[in-house]
Amino acid sequence: MTPARSSGPVLAVVGATGAVGSVLLQLLSVRADVWGGIRLIASPRSAGRLLAVRGEEAEVLALTEDAFDGMGRGDVAVFLTPADVSARWAPAATARGAAVVDQSAAFREDPRVPLVVPEVNAEDARERPRGIVAGPDCVTAAMAAALGALHAEYGLRDLTVSSYQAASASGRAGTEALRRQMSLVAGTSLGGMTGDVRRAVGEDTGPFAGPLALNVVPWCGDLAAGGWSTHELAIRAQTRRILRLPALPVAVTCVQVPVLTGHSLSLRARFDGAVDAGRAREVLQAAPGVVVVDDPAAGEFPTPVDAAGTDPAWAGRLRASLDDPCSLEFFVCADNLLHGSALNAVQTAELIAAEFA
Ligand SMILES: NC(=O)c1ccc[n+]([C@@H]2O[C@H](COP(=O)([O-])OP(=O)(O)OC[C@H]3O[C@@H](n4cnc5c(N)ncnc54)[C@H](OP(=O)(O)O)[C@@H]3O)[C@@H](O)[C@H]2O)c1
Repeated sequence: MTPARSSGPVLAVVGATGAVGSVLLQLLSVRADVWGGIRLIASPRSAGRLLAVRGEEAEVLALTEDAFDGMGRGDVAVFLTPADVSARWAPAATARGAAVVDQSAAFREDPRVPLVVPEVNAEDARERPRGIVAGPDCVTAAMAAALGALHAEYGLRDLTVSSYQAASASGRAGTEALRRQMSLVAGTSLGGMTGDVRRAVGEDTGPFAGPLALNVVPWCGDLAAGGWSTHELAIRAQTRRILRLPALPVAVTCVQVPVLTGHSLSLRARFDGAVDAGRAREVLQAAPGVVVVDDPAAGEFPTPVDAAGTDPAWAGRLRASLDDPCSLEFFVCADNLLHGSALNAVQTAELIAAEFA
């Protein structure tokens, strides 16, 4: 833990050594400092490691019952861990009175746990029957602020989304697998045939459903009814929850692409009435957490390479539908680790801390 100060709540970062955890520690150095102490927690494998946070070195603690000793009401534990770990250990923090902000899938469908994107439904974080607030998955997070602003203006009626998802959405394992595959294919003289990439990568495709180097894989998650993937269904359910549109028709196709960090989304949104693309652009420009980058003539549009390492979701390629005056087509990119998880977690933790300030 960083040296405790006389005042201010404690922030516990559980999963501090992971892909999202590392980004969150960097983020804490540039946010307004509301924390009296920061406690870093990970698996027993990482216990004793020293990590830099806010210009100081802090030792990583193993996740045990003792890890939350001394924490209580007003303190916050952010969980950036696999869902089974969050499900098992979040109650250990809430039992001591601390609030939990969980970025895994463990509690996203629990009606007693609010699902919060601070730019859209910050007020929902105040009501926490289980002491837990959940954050969305990184695809839902990428589009939530833009959709929330457009819905407030026009009334969202229907949504179709295709995601182009980066490897780091699968954490360190995803990043390492893509890097390994890229070096394997770079070391061969490929004839351009699909079989060459498969041969170079071999059987071990890491967390992806096929070789990802020089490829796209239209599959993320597990098989669900009707040929949908669990990830596609989760994005649909979360979008409905966050926008408070429980019957919103949502069709999602998730595609894994060979990008290290930064999700991209192609969206078609249909609204209650006619939409003017110029006015919609103004709505997005005014939306918190969104920047509009939309000048194709000048080669300006969102790309994951540019969005990576930045806080907001980047929106562009805004077009009125050619066939339907009520529909809008657009493209969004956002850093899945930062915008899609670490920033959401920090903003939510700060909202909770402010309740007790
Ligand atoms: N990556 C993304 O873009 C993204 C976006 C939104 C949400 N999320 C969610 O955020 C969570 C973290 O994702 P990530 O990508 O950062 O994963 P990651 O890189 O695999 O990191 C996982 C973290 O959890 C810790 N951990 C694993 N097993 C543990 C155990 N048994 N006890 C205590 N700590 C344990 C790891 O500690 P060790 O280092 O000690 O193993 C590490 O700090 C996941 O639930 C993920 O679904 C991720």
